[in-house]
Order: sequence, then C-alpha cells, then structure tokens
Amino acid sequence: MTDAFSKCRPPRELEIILASGLYPYHRPIEERLDDGEVVVGGRRVLMAGSNDYLALSTDARLKAAGVDAVRRLGSGNSGSRILNGTLTLHRTLEGELADFLGHETAMVVSTGFQANLALSPLFGRHDVLLADRHIHASLIEATRLGQAQLRRYRHNDTSHLGRLLEEVDPAAGRLILTEGMFSVTGDLCDLPGIAELARRHGARVILDSAHDVGLLGAGGRGAAEHHARQPAVDVQTLTFSKCFGTLGGAVAGPRQVIDYLRHSARAALFSASLPPSCTAAALAALDIIRTEPERRRRVLAAARRLRSGLAAIGFPLTPADTPTVPLQVGDALLCCRFWSELFDEGVMANAMLPPSVPSGKALIRLSVTAAHTDAHVDRLLEAVAVVADRLNVINRWGSEGREPSDALADPLAAASVTTPVT
Ligand SMILES: Cc1ncc(COP(=O)(O)O)c(C=O)c1O
Repeated sequence: MTDAFSKCRPPRELEIILASGLYPYHRPIEERLDDGEVVVGGRRVLMAGSNDYLALSTDARLKAAGVDAVRRLGSGNSGSRILNGTLTLHRTLEGELADFLGHETAMVVSTGFQANLALSPLFGRHDVLLADRHIHASLIEATRLGQAQLRRYRHNDTSHLGRLLEEVDPAAGRLILTEGMFSVTGDLCDLPGIAELARRHGARVILDSAHDVGLLGAGGRGAAEHHARQPAVDVQTLTFSKCFGTLGGAVAGPRQVIDYLRHSARAALFSASLPPSCTAAALAALDIIRTEPERRRRVLAAARRLRSGLAAIGFPLTPADTPTVPLQVGDALLCCRFWSELFDEGVMANAMLPPSVPSGKALIRLSVTAAHTDAHVDRLLEAVAVVADRLNVINRWGSEGREPSDALADPLAAASVTTPVT
C-alpha cells in the first residue's frame, strides 16, 4: 500500500539547493526599519525585494489608523462579509476605491490572491478566457476554479491574442485576462492594443492591478491611467500588500458584476473578512496615494537610477520604467549563490526559481521603494556589480543572451562542492 504522505518530500532541485547551503527562502526579518532596511540575523541589510513601493508599511499614519481600528473594533471579525463580518470601514473603503478608480463599485476581500480567486464565477462554461502567459499564480488558480475554456497568448503579444480571438466561437463569451504591471518581469501590458482588440471582438478586459495601482499614472490609478485607457478595463483586481503597505485585496467593476460576485465567489463567501487594522490602514494608504504624488515620483526616480546602473553593468533589461527589475541568471543553483552572496554584501533580494519561472530561467528580482535614497541605490548597484563579476554572470550569457553552460549549470556537480545545511 502507498502511504499518501510519501509524496511529501522536497523535489530533487530543492534537495540540491538545501544540500548546497544556499537556500534563499523563509529568512525571518527581526525588524523593519523605515528607511528601506531590515534586520535579519542581527544584521542591518538593504531590503531590495519588497513591493512596498511607496514605503507605506512603516508610515506613522497607517500604523495609527490600524491601532485605532484595533482599539475600536478588535483584532479580527470572526466571520465572512456576507454574515457577520462586514464593517462600516469595509463599505467606506469600497466606496472610495470605486470612486478613485472610476468603477461603479468594489468588493473588499482579505488578500489580493483571494480577489483573483473571487473572479472564478465569471469564467462560465460558455466562455473563453484569453490569458497572458505571464499571469500570476492566483489568476491561474482562478481559471482552474472556473469553467471557461482557457487559451494562453504569448506574453504581451497582441498579434497572437488577436489570432486567438479570431478563432473563438461567436456564441462564446470572451474575457481577456492580464496584469497591468507584471509581477516578475516588471513590464507593462500593452493595454492600448488589448483595448482595441477587446472593442473589435466584443471581449471583456480583466486587469490585475496588484503592482500598478498607487504606483503608475499621474493620479496613481495604475496602468489604465498610465495608458489613458481606464474605460476599457471592465473589471480590476487589487492588493493592499504592495503600494498600500498592508494586507487585503479588492475587485472593482460594474455593479451588476460585483453584486454577482458578492453572492457567488466562494473564496470570499466562505472566508473571514479583512480585519479592522488592515482595512483602516488601506483607507489611510488610499488617502496618501491620492494626495502625495511625490512618493510615486521618488520611487520611479530610484527605479530609473537602478535600471540605468544595471544596464551599465551589462544586464539585459526588459524595457520599462518600473521599480521591479529581473536579473536573468538562468541556472537555479547559480541564482541561489547570487542571492546568498548579495545577502553577504548586505542586500536582501528575491530569488525566483522554477516552478515560479520556467526551468533554466531562474532570476534575481530586485525592487526599490520610495524609502530608498540615491545612496541606497548606489549601494545596491555596487553589491550587484561585485557579485555579478565574482560569479561571472554577465559573460556567461554570451552575446545572444543564451543561458550559461558550465559546472554551475550542473546542480549536482556544484552541490557536491558546497557545504550541506546543518
Ligand atoms: C500580480 C499579483 N496578483 C495578485 C497577487 C496576490 O496578492 P496578495 O499578496 O495580496 O495575496 C500578487 C502578489 O504577489 C501579485 O503579484
């Protein structure tokens, strides 16, 4: 007989990484300082992996709003929105979000992941979903929960999307699914192209604005405002875990759609609602997003400085002006070594390994926030340059940007010469 738990072993790649002593995950942060640095293992390091783009998670106004809400309403709601878990604060936040983004209404849920899962009742069995290949894991899960047929188009390739739309049965409903700013690659979706195709083919556009609301557009309304295409977005999902500096999510759109989701999205219906502290903090963040555009200017200036410095070091970059920047490394173990040596240099970045990226396409994701000064960005660039040079990362790619191929590309060979985890 097979024990059902026998599958609960790390995959081979992870075993190799664990054995190498280069495991880059689950490092506990002891303190979060308000200048873009954190304390890990007793050391102060530059945080270069956070999506707290506007540096609001440590803002005194968000903390005060959260503390006041805890005092008045307690630490949790112990119930779902539909039963006993709706607060006046939720309603206020929904009204303000809808107004800010130009939608009829919004539904606040407990995470951005949940906001995307809550879309699944829209994906009916007579619909076809056309989704960018790079959409977030939470959107993929939502497509699995839904009943629509899924077609994936090549990343940001509107010609491919157009061809797929041509093939859709005229009797089927069409939904286009994309992110505004892509979470791993930091590039923006081609919203003008998508909006034009949607108009031509009678398709609805669903935009995951997790990374762009608060950050992009003159008023902080995200990729849709940046591209001046707000009316073309039918439904928009958000998270409060990035620019809003707290936790939570929302789905915004036409009243008919959101009211339908309020009564059919099982991910929200059968889960406790967003606690008072996070709801109040999100409201405080929205106020700051509306009134302090200089925060956006600061993080985007830091992003430009980072990007031009990385280009000067020799990294091929995706064309974008955003604060999330992937550094292609290729081999997973080499990527872990890159992460670990950056950490030794006083920088905490993100290692993105398969399966969150395709096999052989491991990368280091860097991000900067409004808390980072020019001196921070220069320190980050110096650390990246030192480690990239030490590991010979740029030269490994060759002139056509091909993957590195040498001893480190063979994880077993590399693992055998490194220290095992104790
Ligand atoms: C594009 C995108 N959508 C949704 C989410 C989920 O957001 P949350 O962290 O609030 O669950 C994320 C977070 O990583 C994301 O990057």
